[in-house]
Amino acid sequence: MKRSLVMTLMVAALAFAMVLPLYAAAAKKAPADGLAMKTPEGMKATKPLVKFNHSKHTEAKCADCHHKKAGANEYAGCDTKGCHADIAAKTGKESFYAAFHGNNAKSCVGCHKAKKEAKPNIPTACDKCHLK
Ligand code: HEC
Ligand code: HEC
Ligand code: HEC
Repeated sequence: MKRSLVMTLMVAALAFAMVLPLYAAAAKKAPADGLAMKTPEGMKATKPLVKFNHSKHTEAKCADCHHKKAGANEYAGCDTKGCHADIAAKTGKESFYAAFHGNNAKSCVGCHKAKKEAKPNIPTACDKCHLK
């Protein structure tokens, strides 16, 4: 009787220890506004660098922008090698430019254009994101 109780407690403690990190990862908080974005290594910015505000994007789920497939690296910078670090290509998955201006729901401009009718003030002009 006593032994099975000890076993139960041990199993419960183990399960807790295993689940806790998953919970912590899922509960990751979005960083403060004004997050300074940058260009990949070796690319000189031609436009004023974008500062991103998470607080204006709470309508979207984290995974609408961040990629689950990156696993532990889910919140790594977009310009991480192997992600969107191709500075030459203007299109394609690894293109740095396309990640933000591509015609798809995950890119900044792609999502903004899709929502323009419902939200006329949503920025689609260059200097509304690349603030001088
Ligand atoms: C909805 C926001 C948004 C809009 C609108 C937007 N961009 Fe960007 N752009 C970004 C983000 C984010 C990056 C990546 C971070 C950075 O470079 O500041 C970027 C990067 C770039 C880059 C590569 C880095 C550099 O500075 O050379 C160029 C070129 C660029 N944008 C041009 C444009 C042009 C031209 C327009 C207008 C036709 C435009 N962007 C409109 C968000 C936007
Ligand atoms: C609309 C798109 C979008 C949404 C939604 C979004 N993020 Fe982000 N997040 C970004 C961008 C863009 C960056 C900057 C990436 C870079 O610097 O290359 C970023 C960066 C981060 C970072 C890294 C901060 C740092 O200092 O390096 C964390 C952590 C993060 N986001 C967490 C979250 C969480 C948690 C959520 C959901 C509650 C979330 N984000 C929702 C676009 C988004
Ligand atoms: C999934 C859709 C979606 C994506 C992806 C997205 N946005 Fe937005 N963004 C929105 C919506 C919706 C609003 C309007 C929020 C409101 O109603 O105020 C917005 C508002 C903004 C604004 C105006 C508010 C402010 O922060 O000054 C900027 C700038 C902006 N987004 C930049 C970006 C950049 C840069 C990216 C990519 C790194 C991005 N957005 C990606 C949906 C998106």
